[in-house]
Amino acid sequence: MHRRPLIAGNWKMHLTLTEAVNLARTVATSASACPDRDVMVAPASTALAAVCNAVADTPLLVGAQNVAWEKEGAFTGEISPIMLTDLGVNMALVGHSERRQIFGEDDAMINRRLRGALHFGIRPVLCIGETLAEREDGRTFAVLESQVRQGLHEVSIEQMAETVLAYEPVWAIGTGKTATTEQAQEVHGFLRRLLAAIYEKTLADKTRILYGGSVKPDNIDALMAQPDIDGALVGGAALKAESFDRIVQFR
Ligand code: PGA
Repeated sequence: MHRRPLIAGNWKMHLTLTEAVNLARTVATSASACPDRDVMVAPASTALAAVCNAVADTPLLVGAQNVAWEKEGAFTGEISPIMLTDLGVNMALVGHSERRQIFGEDDAMINRRLRGALHFGIRPVLCIGETLAEREDGRTFAVLESQVRQGLHEVSIEQMAETVLAYEPVWAIGTGKTATTEQAQEVHGFLRRLLAAIYEKTLADKTRILYGGSVKPDNIDALMAQPDIDGALVGGAALKAESFDRIVQFR
């Protein structure tokens, strides 16, 4: 089963407007050079409009780092899905571990965000992952299954076809500790079987499952060689044009 790889850069709370536009332009050049894969960047919301404008005529996809579920209303600090589509943004991260851990977002809220995004035509990247304590307790698969089932609650098969999953072990994010390729593949295989059980095998086989957590130029090739790893969600190494370019050009 061929799945088009997706390499996504999560810029988190980094880069000024000028820095973001400059980096996006460079990444767009990398994306143009690799037409067999999708490349996405998720700038801070302050830079979304400018980055969308700067890369409008390129294959680079622009995503938001989060998205609200209503189209408008009294939601101080939030950005609605139609505000995003208005800018040309058509993807969004949902449920990143920093949203879960620092800002207290739970699975129910993440599910609302995900369904809101889908409803308004934004393709969500649902991020899931276990903490170190959960892994050491032998609860990795139970935690992931619960995050997937709750995150995808009432998401139809058609909507799931627009959704990307990102496995990011919390203990590997920003720590320089990557899961071994075997650990990552084991989880990705598990997630694909879980999707087949919740939906159906054809859909599971089509769903892109990204790995995230200290992805770097020196581990991307081995990760992408795994049968169930379909791309990467990259934090730190996405902030430097050179390292992200090497990741985009995985072989
Ligand atoms: P990292 O971040 O690559 O810096 O570990 C990944 C992420 O949080 O998406």
